[in-house]
Amino acid sequence: MAGLEVSIGSLRLRNPVLLASGCVGYGEEIAQFVDLSALGGIVVKGLYMSPRIGNPPPRIWETPSGMLNSIGLQGIGIHRFVRERLPALRQGGATVIVNVCGETDEEYEQVTRVCDEADGIHATELNISCPNIQENGRCPGMSQEHTYSLISRVRKASSKPLIVKLSPNVTDVAAIATSAEQGGADAVSLINTVLGMSIDTETGETRTATGMGGLSGPAIRPIAVRMVYQVSHAVRIPVIGIGGICDARDAIEFFMAGASAVQVGTANFMNPVASMEVLAGIKSYLARKGKKLNEIIGTCQIGRVQESEPG
Ligand SMILES: Cc1cc2nc3c(=O)[nH]c(=O)nc-3n(C[C@H](O)[C@H](O)[C@H](O)COP(=O)(O)O)c2cc1C
Repeated sequence: MAGLEVSIGSLRLRNPVLLASGCVGYGEEIAQFVDLSALGGIVVKGLYMSPRIGNPPPRIWETPSGMLNSIGLQGIGIHRFVRERLPALRQGGATVIVNVCGETDEEYEQVTRVCDEADGIHATELNISCPNIQENGRCPGMSQEHTYSLISRVRKASSKPLIVKLSPNVTDVAAIATSAEQGGADAVSLINTVLGMSIDTETGETRTATGMGGLSGPAIRPIAVRMVYQVSHAVRIPVIGIGGICDARDAIEFFMAGASAVQVGTANFMNPVASMEVLAGIKSYLARKGKKLNEIIGTCQIGRVQESEPG
């Protein structure tokens, strides 16, 4: 549909609705429900150079309006992904974005280089924000200096569009976004999960084996909308909004806060066709309002009580 395309660097997405990393694996199962070629793209599960088994169980816990996870970036490694999973995604006509992980800056660069050489990978999303890897949820995206040096390094290794995925577990998300932009990012996506914790009061044990976990789902949406608003006022590159999006109205909130595109994550577990419904709802909203997508981006205004007539 005209008026729905979004540019991320040199990549033109056919529309602004993507599937978020970690919530649809490498796309095989969701492809039974969703025509991946009709979406803006799929961001596949985070990948390192080698396969990883992730954290020990339990690693999922449902919370009010959300879930805690401590999967710990389980994955098959970038080479197996390219060999075994990418062909089906290519055949299905999907726009494929790889969520790139690394234990070191060198590994982030290596994985990005493999993506750069693989036909059928359209862009990378650098995951500098997973809370489930290091103790106390630390990650490169918590420091402005590390964000800048890592993105500058990876930028040199890739000619494909580079999205940087930001953490909400920071004091000043706009400052980190600015460092990513200065390092050469083509876009930023946010938010990754919010560091959380839940305890079984009968046993006194935490609900996840790593103690903490990443909170996702509708519970985090207002945090994500606020951060997208702050970041979109701080950078000139496109912002991709993520966090608790379940329907078109949720997505439109993010556009009005300043996002050019959105990703649907946890909602897929409850409703595997959520992304298609979000896309259809955006189309009918825009038709009803007689507007193009870029005419609603960043249009939110601060709400005020209407002053009543004196007397
Ligand atoms: C089970 C699970 C696994 C995830 N794995 C990844 C991952 O591999 N890489 C990443 O960048 N984000 C990962 N995320 C974070 C999501 O992509 C998304 O940023 C976050 O969940 C907020 O969006 P949502 O509320 O729509 O799920 C994961 C989230 C969940 C729930």
